[in-house]
Amino acid sequence: MASATYQICTLPGDGIGPEIIAEGKKVLHAVGERFDTSFSCTDALIGGAAIDACGNPLPDETLSCAHASDAVLLASVGGPKWDSTDPAAPRPEQGLLRIRKELGLYTNLRPVQIFSALAGASTLRPEVIEGVDVMIVRELTGGLYFGRRERFYDEPGAGVNGAPGQRAYDTLEYREFEVERIARQAFEAARRRRGKVSSVDKANVLETSRMWREIVHRIHDEDYADIELEDVLVDNAAMQLINRPATFDVVVTENMFGDILSDEAAQITGSLGMLASASLGDDTALYEPSHGSAPDIAGQGIANPLAQILSVEMMLRYSFDMAEAADSIRRAVTRVLDEGWRTRDIADEATPADHILGCSAMGDAVVAALD
Ligand code: IPM
Ligand code: MG
Repeated sequence: MASATYQICTLPGDGIGPEIIAEGKKVLHAVGERFDTSFSCTDALIGGAAIDACGNPLPDETLSCAHASDAVLLASVGGPKWDSTDPAAPRPEQGLLRIRKELGLYTNLRPVQIFSALAGASTLRPEVIEGVDVMIVRELTGGLYFGRRERFYDEPGAGVNGAPGQRAYDTLEYREFEVERIARQAFEAARRRRGKVSSVDKANVLETSRMWREIVHRIHDEDYADIELEDVLVDNAAMQLINRPATFDVVVTENMFGDILSDEAAQITGSLGMLASASLGDDTALYEPSHGSAPDIAGQGIANPLAQILSVEMMLRYSFDMAEAADSIRRAVTRVLDEGWRTRDIADEATPADHILGCSAMGDAVVAALD
């Protein structure tokens, strides 16, 4: 078998990021050995760590590293140290938003699945979460996140009726091609899954949503008539996700709705520390856990690396077409959980103390469980 070498740009970021990405790499290299593939990882700075080092949340070297690599593996960014409402202060999240835009990562896949060993962690009743398997397809490089925005500081005496006050606006804008390509991604995903797409919008109020709905239906009728398509208003979608989560297959929506609904959907599982995501463009892709940088437990060696490890699974599947290798990671994680091993965040009263693992021990357990 011919052996392949892939270049990976690894971005540890902030908080628990450096701890969990070490476990992601550990599993990546172990799987590489088994599948005769080598992965050469180059670390680069992003987020608060990059602000501290050079005042810029996405330094040029990081962008070059990402462009020169076959895929990007990110851990997490942000923390209270860099929180500020001063519009002039650099923010860690700007690094994330800019890398998405610069690499053209318009498709964000956020799978929501339940590991049966962890089903008890959900706050929803077991019969409600039975069979939940949702793929949120979030548009990632348009809409409110990237529209024109401005803040005005009125001079004293110059506001409405002389009352001083600030003003601000953000713009929600989409172009036809942006809706078209994300709709295609959703229909393609549905074809590989259970053949249903729920398109979420606010067409009863927003013009962008009315255009969104029109385009999604046109693409559907032209090329994907075999797929079941439903329109769901975003407020109703928020309710239905909790009420009947198992009836959703693929959910496609614009950037900000997708941000909100994907956090809600993650909560259906009750274990945010288990969910990975992929951000795909036409030329490259970035993989990261769905959770944040958990600054409160950073540096203690107790973080849950499983979402990071599952983001490596997605990388093998989507960037390198290594479905078997990806499956082997998922099986290993399932096995470790079935055997009762837990990190602190996913443990409960029934977990024996000697089955609660630290971050690095959990990575070792997954490697040991690879077949
Ligand atoms: C996410 C996060 C980001 C987003 C933040 C950190 C900018 O919430 O990936 O969902 O809003 O997209
Ligand atoms: Mg979010």
